[in-house]
Amino acid sequence: MLSRKVAAQLRDYETPFYLYDINLLRQTLESVVYESNKYNYKVHYAIKANNDDYLLSIIREYGIGIDCASGNEVRKAIESGFDPKTVVYAGVGKRDKEIRYALEQEILAINCESIEELKVVNALAAEMGKMADVGLRVNPDIDPKTNRCIDTGQADSKFGISYEEILDNVDLIRSLENINIIGIHIHIGSQIRELHVFENMCNKANAIVEKLESLGFSFRIVDVGGGLGINYDVPENEPIPNFASLFAIVHEHLNVEGKEVHFEFGRSLVGECGELITSVLFNKTTATGRRLLIIDASMTELIRPMLYGSYHNIENITSQEERTTKYTVVGTACESTDVFDENVSLKRSQRGDLLAIKSAGAYGRSMASQYNMHDLPGAVYSDQLGK
Ligand code: LLP
Repeated sequence: MLSRKVAAQLRDYETPFYLYDINLLRQTLESVVYESNKYNYKVHYAIKANNDDYLLSIIREYGIGIDCASGNEVRKAIESGFDPKTVVYAGVGKRDKEIRYALEQEILAINCESIEELKVVNALAAEMGKMADVGLRVNPDIDPKTNRCIDTGQADSKFGISYEEILDNVDLIRSLENINIIGIHIHIGSQIRELHVFENMCNKANAIVEKLESLGFSFRIVDVGGGLGINYDVPENEPIPNFASLFAIVHEHLNVEGKEVHFEFGRSLVGECGELITSVLFNKTTATGRRLLIIDASMTELIRPMLYGSYHNIENITSQEERTTKYTVVGTACESTDVFDENVSLKRSQRGDLLAIKSAGAYGRSMASQYNMHDLPGAVYSDQLGK
């Protein structure tokens, strides 16, 4: 973990801030490119995980495309120099102006999530005199065995069109004259650590593709989304996620000869390269005996623990103490749920110590808010330290 090694240099920066390990990011990108090239798979980066300009410029160097969830994300991708033909755009609720912008930019695919959306995209494309390249986002009804807050592919989820609804509307979809259905899109959820789940997904995808093609569709692309999880418990054990195993599973189980297979990774590309660095402000003990460690970060910098009950490993990177104490680590926000973790065993901590909250590169800074008029967190990059 980088922060421990460079702790002394981190004193130069005002906390809280995100520290990004650029070497680790590059190694992760090298790994995903190397492993995906073995099967000629195409990789997109889910920009919602982190839209930092410098990280995006590095990701672009590796020839990776972008998966977006809003018009502004599409704009960001294009303004960051990504070729629109490597940009895909999903989302259950696209506004007309967002659809128009995506059509104007002629991105690779608008992944549509309802029959009504297909009709609207068709109408807007007709108005603009364009053909819209579209992916059908199918809800595959799969339990991804992850935190309920972040699964997306179960039958009653808001994401994707149910397979049954597609079957009921085949003629209608095929009659939309300004839409070119180029692929199907499936994303079952996030932080998936049980890789056999991806095997189920492949089996479902095979069946869906076969059936829909028998009804007259012809897909060039099968986009199987993202979701590969990272090791939040002991990040040091697995700084680079196991892309090789995931691709091997997909290669073995997805039978879509001759089609392009696309992935959309967010967390697995940037999760482990980021840490939230924060200072201890105060110690205090509640009347019930809880030892609180109050730090200068809060849910406004990293909301995952409060929103999903997610675990992030926390370490005091500057304390010289040998002894440890169990703390409840709380933030500065005026909310009772602003707790990073309970019963965290840390080296005895005092005012001014620096803590690292690890594995925070994904869905950390991109989910930051300005509640309580907090400043948005800044970033420090390992290759610029001390410069
Ligand atoms: N593709 C689609 C269509 C998605 O909805 C997502 C994530 C991804 C790809 C990337 O998934 P990943 O590889 O990162 O698992 N804020 C939550 C995670 C929300 C994920 C939303 N969709 C968290 O902090 O855990």
